[in-house]
Amino acid sequence: MSNSTRVLSCIQPTGDVHLGNYLGALQNWVRGQHECDAFHGIVDLHSLTVTEEPGIVGETTLSLAAMLFAVGLDPDDATVFAQSHVAEHSQLAWIMQCNVAYGELSRMTQFKDKSVKRDGQFISAGLFTYPTLMAADILLYDTNHVPVGNDQHQHIEITRDIAIRFNRRFGETFVLPEAVTPAAGARVMSLQDPTSKMSKSEDSGAGCVYIVDEPAAVMKKFKRAVTDSDTGPDAVRYDRAAKPGVANLLEIHAAVTGRTPEAVADDYEQYGALKVATGEAVVATLDPIRIRYIELMDDRGELARLLRVGAEKARAVASVTLQRVHDAIGMVPA
Ligand code: TYM
Repeated sequence: MSNSTRVLSCIQPTGDVHLGNYLGALQNWVRGQHECDAFHGIVDLHSLTVTEEPGIVGETTLSLAAMLFAVGLDPDDATVFAQSHVAEHSQLAWIMQCNVAYGELSRMTQFKDKSVKRDGQFISAGLFTYPTLMAADILLYDTNHVPVGNDQHQHIEITRDIAIRFNRRFGETFVLPEAVTPAAGARVMSLQDPTSKMSKSEDSGAGCVYIVDEPAAVMKKFKRAVTDSDTGPDAVRYDRAAKPGVANLLEIHAAVTGRTPEAVADDYEQYGALKVATGEAVVATLDPIRIRYIELMDDRGELARLLRVGAEKARAVASVTLQRVHDAIGMVPA
């Protein structure tokens, strides 16, 4: 990767940032910021798909900005911005909606999952058209690489499909992006149910490790992690299908220590020791971040200023792309 490689990825300001977000995405954002031209959005407009009360999204946006700087994004290197500050995202999203088929959006697993979870509640049309706003986020920046967890792959695929269709209809306009996922940590599973992904919307917090969790709380969650009942010298081995709980711990351990799950497995014979060691490795990674986050949250004025600086840099790129799109379609210049 070089400085001319454009990287963009975003995160929603809904709920606290968890270990899955960190290992699947944020860790890669931090690593990539020096070698690449990096843009990272706090996608407050996306979170409106499920927001029904006033006064919350602004606070969660500032808190997420503090978290992104706490994990190590450097505002001098990476452009960190709030999506609603760059109007081009909404403007391009409409054009994306006109270049995607209803059937394509109907096949999105995230829409199916989220609408089932909200059964009986309000299901906004925005939840259905969500991938078109995400396509706009990505395509506005001529993005080459999108560092995300596995759960976002289908969204990157539909973004590519929309870009290909637009380019065919209106001439070569968009760069085709590619998803980038880490070797370990691309799909961190719940510590309580290792067959479903670690997620902020999980009912009890026991399976989800938040970055703001105190060390004692993190250790407790790992000690109670679901593993297996079989014992013996081979009990700790890396087998995702047969031993999903153990595999999840091994992957988490590998992701925070930069090793492979197989190598970590060689070091342990008992589940208890693996749980404690994984908890300790996670605390060693997350605790300095938690402490920095608390410090940064003390100066909200500075966070808001950094977001304004980011938005200005983002707008400079996004406005040029949107103009190119209007020109390609042949709209009357404003
Ligand atoms: P969001 O806010 O749900 O999650 C942010 C990032 O965290 C990753 N992630 C995980 N990775 C591994 N294991 C897990 N259990 C786990 N849970 C979450 C996600 O893959 C994601 O990379 N639609 C996106 C936000 C978005 C976006 C974009 C991303 C909007 N526009 C443009 C990239 C580019 C979302 O809801 O992520």
